[in-house]
Amino acid sequence: MTPCRHCANIAPAGNRGKSISFEYVPELVSSRTARVCRYQGPWCTWGRRVADQLFSDGEVYERLMGRWSRLVGKAFLAWLDTAKKLQWLDVGCGNGAFTEEIIAHCAPATMVAIDPSDDQLAFARMKHEANIADFRSGDAQALQFADASFDVAVMALVISFLPDPAKAVSEMARVVRPGGWVAAYMWDVPGGGTPVDPIYVEMEAMGMTSVRPSNPEVSRRETMQELWEKTGLGAIETRTIRIPVSYSNFNDFWDSNTAPIGPQGKLIEGMSPGAREELRTRLRSRLPTSDGRIVYESFANAACSSPDFSHRHVLRRRSLAPG
Ligand SMILES: C[S@@+](CC[C@H](N)C(=O)[O-])C[C@H]1O[C@@H](n2cnc3c(N)ncnc32)[C@H](O)[C@@H]1O
Repeated sequence: MTPCRHCANIAPAGNRGKSISFEYVPELVSSRTARVCRYQGPWCTWGRRVADQLFSDGEVYERLMGRWSRLVGKAFLAWLDTAKKLQWLDVGCGNGAFTEEIIAHCAPATMVAIDPSDDQLAFARMKHEANIADFRSGDAQALQFADASFDVAVMALVISFLPDPAKAVSEMARVVRPGGWVAAYMWDVPGGGTPVDPIYVEMEAMGMTSVRPSNPEVSRRETMQELWEKTGLGAIETRTIRIPVSYSNFNDFWDSNTAPIGPQGKLIEGMSPGAREELRTRLRSRLPTSDGRIVYESFANAACSSPDFSHRHVLRRRSLAPG
């Protein structure tokens, strides 16, 4: 049996016979040959240090994007207004931030969450150790579940990263029972709704390639409506969710958005000192301030097909009907 290369442990009694797997954690090591002992995580001292560091990276992510995606996620779930005790699928769950919101606000009976990134799933599993969520590896465009196996399928801030968004929506429709909820939301990328949009704009003005998601057009509200219609889903509603984005001052904005995690932070870290300073100066003069605070609005578009919406349509029609 292979011992952990960091702490030289082998699996303790009870776990002997299982193979030890190692995992690449890009937040911690820059080389694919340096790996973390996953299987021995709970008792490997090196693995524990890694876990601590991952959590603090999670905090950096929270400051960069997590706090804004939570705000929009809460508003989205309030809009869906589902019943409790349903069977949920979270497609493209990432580090589990939105999964956590579903569990907190919708009291699901079961919660399955999929993502293709093993690193993100490892982080989500550590965070959700005692929770009901079942995190699995999977692809939105080829869901590994039987037809009609969920009440609700949601896809949060994922659709613009997919090469084939139509396939993903039809896959969600397939695995949801007739009359269930098929829903998604994404920052309005072409409309400038992403919280980091000022950075995209200024990098592009400097002639650099920013790190916009690869499929921005699908995040338009009318494109999402069309996609849901083409999938053959009924009772469709779309909406734009607006959230306030606010930083205590320019340094808070800069430090939050330039931490060297994720593609944007790494791109900024790799800029020459002169180019970084130019980006900083451009952003400082562009960003709206109020009493030193930087405050602006970000917005996401959401689409949903659900029985409750047809019910709401009936109610609305009735309340509008004369007499
Ligand atoms: C911006 S994150 C959103 C994570 C999470 N849903 C949230 O709201 O916090 C985008 C996620 O999409 C995932 N993703 C990319 N391609 C995917 C695919 N083909 N199927 C499922 N998820 C995918 C990425 O791994 C990443 O975790």
